Amino acid sequence: MLQVSSREKPFSVTQLSPARLATSLFATSFATRPVVVASAPGRVNLIGEHTDYNGGPVLPVALERRTAIAARAAGRWAFVSAVEQEVHEIDIEAPMRQAWTDYLVGVVRELRVLRAAPAGAEIAVTTNLPIGAGLSSSAALTVAAAKALSLMAGKRLSPAALAEIAFRAEYHQVGVRCGRMDQTIAAHGERGSALLFETASGTLQPVPLPGRLWIIETGISHRLTGGALNDRRRECEEALAYCREWRPGLNYLAQLSTADLPEVERRLPPPLVPRVRHVVTETARTRRAAGALAAGDLTTLGRLLVEGHESLRLHYQSTIPEADFIVASAVEHGAYGARLTGAGWGGAVVLLAPPEREARTVAEIGSDFQLRYGRMPVIWSTCASRGVRRETVAQ
Ligand code: GLA
Repeated sequence: MLQVSSREKPFSVTQLSPARLATSLFATSFATRPVVVASAPGRVNLIGEHTDYNGGPVLPVALERRTAIAARAAGRWAFVSAVEQEVHEIDIEAPMRQAWTDYLVGVVRELRVLRAAPAGAEIAVTTNLPIGAGLSSSAALTVAAAKALSLMAGKRLSPAALAEIAFRAEYHQVGVRCGRMDQTIAAHGERGSALLFETASGTLQPVPLPGRLWIIETGISHRLTGGALNDRRRECEEALAYCREWRPGLNYLAQLSTADLPEVERRLPPPLVPRVRHVVTETARTRRAAGALAAGDLTTLGRLLVEGHESLRLHYQSTIPEADFIVASAVEHGAYGARLTGAGWGGAVVLLAPPEREARTVAEIGSDFQLRYGRMPVIWSTCASRGVRRETVAQ
């Protein structure tokens, strides 16, 4: 991982793996050793934004950066993270605290439904993912926790089951109206491949992704809970209800085609039209992008990334000026393409550039950004990595 610039972070990205750090945080916090350690990756979505809750395809990649959980059965629930280093003793039945611990509470509640939770546990969490950067630190946390805690209860759950528990924890317990993309890639990620996930049918198809992707953090954090994502999702549901008046069999917005857009324009309240336009065109772009990646046509893939960003900016209105600036600068400096990744309203840009000039391209973007905003963005790269796993940590 190349750290082009280092901004002060709420946690330190060190050479030690999150799994080893979680083990030592556990030991210092609870004065004993963990019994199970598991980790799961964050994700960068190559393309297919806001399609997962509309029945469309997504093309995410598991990051090398991960969140690790170290745990041991106990007569209570107690959580500590490397960010605060403070042990929180938690009542699983109590109302949510509007804090990071809610995600763990959500996982425990969902595991209990399946009788796959231990009676209690002490848990230490560390991550080398940036938090609030649109790179799915929450799915990494919930999927890793589902793995560690279910193992402690003597269950070996499949990646699909872990993804479902993590999704339910975030959607039903924490209350973020997310789709299933983040938990699915955190559970099923494969080294060296992006994953084409058709959310309506549930099919998963690895698409080889050689080389590295670059992540440029805008430095603007987003908070998803109860925020703009929930509003957009509501708009999409409203749009679907209007569309069903003339297409009664329609299950998802992503089933519409670009040929349906004139009718959408005639029938829907004007504010909803661009939302549908984004979902429909993004669905087509994502399938084309997967085809281009499979064929090694990175020029076409890059062009589709930029078109996707433009659609987010104009139609979904989920970008921010800093991201628009980075994408424009990327195009100017010879990248294949770039786009804001994840939910938006902050977060990070994903960039794909020819390997022989990628270091120069990102350095040029960094200095453009510094001139415009007076600070260097944090820039790093990643290969496609693997999904959730149990970790063996040397004693
Ligand atoms: C968030 C959600 C995902 C997806 C993206 C937007 O990351 O958790 O399910 O909807 O936003 O593509």
